[in-house]
Amino acid sequence: MILQNRLQQNLAIQVVKNYSDLPLIECYPGQLNQVFMNILANAIDALESSKRENQPRQITIHTSRVDDQWVKIAIADNGCGISPSIQNQVFNPFFTTKPVGKGTGMGMAISYQVITEKHGGKLTFSSTVGTGTEFTIQIPIQQQAFSN
Ligand SMILES: Nc1ncnc2c1ncn2[C@@H]1O[C@H](COP(=O)(O)OP(=O)(O)OP(=O)(O)O)[C@@H](O)[C@H]1O
Ligand SMILES: [Mg+2]
Repeated sequence: MILQNRLQQNLAIQVVKNYSDLPLIECYPGQLNQVFMNILANAIDALESSKRENQPRQITIHTSRVDDQWVKIAIADNGCGISPSIQNQVFNPFFTTKPVGKGTGMGMAISYQVITEKHGGKLTFSSTVGTGTEFTIQIPIQQQAFSN
């Protein structure tokens, strides 16, 4: 909902929702929502900066249960993609390729921390320039006794 006006602003972005039945997850919902927002906002940015004449701009969201302990949320865009030369910097604090005043470069660094440290999960991505990017969140259904 919060991103709705950005999805409809100047370019039409189609959001494909592929949700499977997930169990209730023990989590910090506010922080997880922040992660979803960060990834979706990046996807929209990537779609805005990509020129594709005949393909619709798309964000695809998949949710699935991996096994009895893990769920997976994958968010893919068919935007500009991330060059291999900077892929190892995406989760670094203050790393941004966006114009001054637009990005702070903290979105993915914070998201990584929220998923790995706060939830004992995994945050990964794969990306191809000109094709798009997919971020994958995996989180345990129940939190173990983490120190934080
Ligand atoms: N879906 C994506 N497609 C292409 N590049 C991406 C995508 N997601 C992240 N990136 C790259 O990773 C960088 C870091 O992302 P991050 O969200 O941390 O910072 P940001 O979007 O630049 O700024 P902000 O802190 O405001 O989110 C981006 O500047 C961009 O280069
Ligand atoms: Mg961002």
